[in-house]
Amino acid sequence: MRFDIAVLPGDGIGPEVMEQALKILDAIALKYGHEFNTKEALIGGCAIDAYGEPLPQDTLELCKKCDAVMLGAVGGEKWDTLPGDKRPEAGLLGIRAGLGLFANLRPAVIYNALKDASPLKDDIVKDGIDIMVVRELTGGIYFGKRGRTDAGEIGEAAFDTEMYSVYEVERIARKAFEIAMSRRKIVTSVDKANVLESSRLWREVVTRVSKEYPEVKLNHMYVDNASMQLVRRPEQFDVIVTTNMFGDILSDEASMITGSIGMLPSASLGEGNMGLYEPVHGSAPDIAGSNKANPLATILSAAMMLRYSFGLEEEAKAVEDAVTKVLDKGYRTVDIASEGTTVVGTSEMGQLVRDEI
Ligand code: IPM
Ligand code: MG
Repeated sequence: MRFDIAVLPGDGIGPEVMEQALKILDAIALKYGHEFNTKEALIGGCAIDAYGEPLPQDTLELCKKCDAVMLGAVGGEKWDTLPGDKRPEAGLLGIRAGLGLFANLRPAVIYNALKDASPLKDDIVKDGIDIMVVRELTGGIYFGKRGRTDAGEIGEAAFDTEMYSVYEVERIARKAFEIAMSRRKIVTSVDKANVLESSRLWREVVTRVSKEYPEVKLNHMYVDNASMQLVRRPEQFDVIVTTNMFGDILSDEASMITGSIGMLPSASLGEGNMGLYEPVHGSAPDIAGSNKANPLATILSAAMMLRYSFGLEEEAKAVEDAVTKVLDKGYRTVDIASEGTTVVGTSEMGQLVRDEI
């Protein structure tokens, strides 16, 4: 089959890890007789340097014409002092909204070969960690009304607004329940319904949607408790569904407790098959260009693309199995290295995975 992929390497280590992921896609194309037609464009800091804006119109247009988008990472110190709407991160928010990608899937799993990497005690992770965070991605406080005011007596002030419509909650809840059906069938909906009205609506709607999925067990949890339970008893979680901001925070926590944030992929999905795939880690400017970055999160993001956007389950599995084999053989990039393992660079790691395929 033939697919068009928009490739947005971005900033920092983005281009190096992307190069490896493309190498893997190339191997999959050869082995299974597909054609992946890739087209590169700019996003983030590099787009600001070239065009003065983090998400050039051409980039968004290109993405809309493709079947899926692969993204590296955006951001860096150089652009940190720009105003909010001109920062590299605005490019990321713009592309999520521009492509209607309302569901962000962030799996947090412990690989067998890396089980000592978790910062949690052995008796807490003994039952493993396999959590799918389903984060709402185009609503809530990230996209609500914000601004600065001079509010009379109290002086200068700023505000951001958390708002969710029933429709937005319904569609993300359905996504979470659908995903839970192919997993352990437990959904934990995380909110702050003891304080926030938007969370009370969230809870009502998720409860209503859950009736369509009688096989799935639904729990509700306040976000403060959820952040605590994640380090206390992570095995209780299967699918976590939550708002944009809570999901931002909890997905970082969930990925950290696996001990290998450099390993974790993500998918951002909309209504159709279009999706954007990117590693959970950032642009790590401090190690950019030094062949140290772990390309596995981006490679595994490509696997998610094969699965969710192209429907190529066998090919996705082939990539994931290749990664597992390379880890089982003891190869590690420096971020996941431990005693007795062989440390390799970014491009060597990519090549090792490619060789397995
Ligand atoms: C993420 C990041 C982004 C977010 C930033 C870079 C805007 O933290 O993808 O989790 O907050 O969504
Ligand atoms: Mg984040």
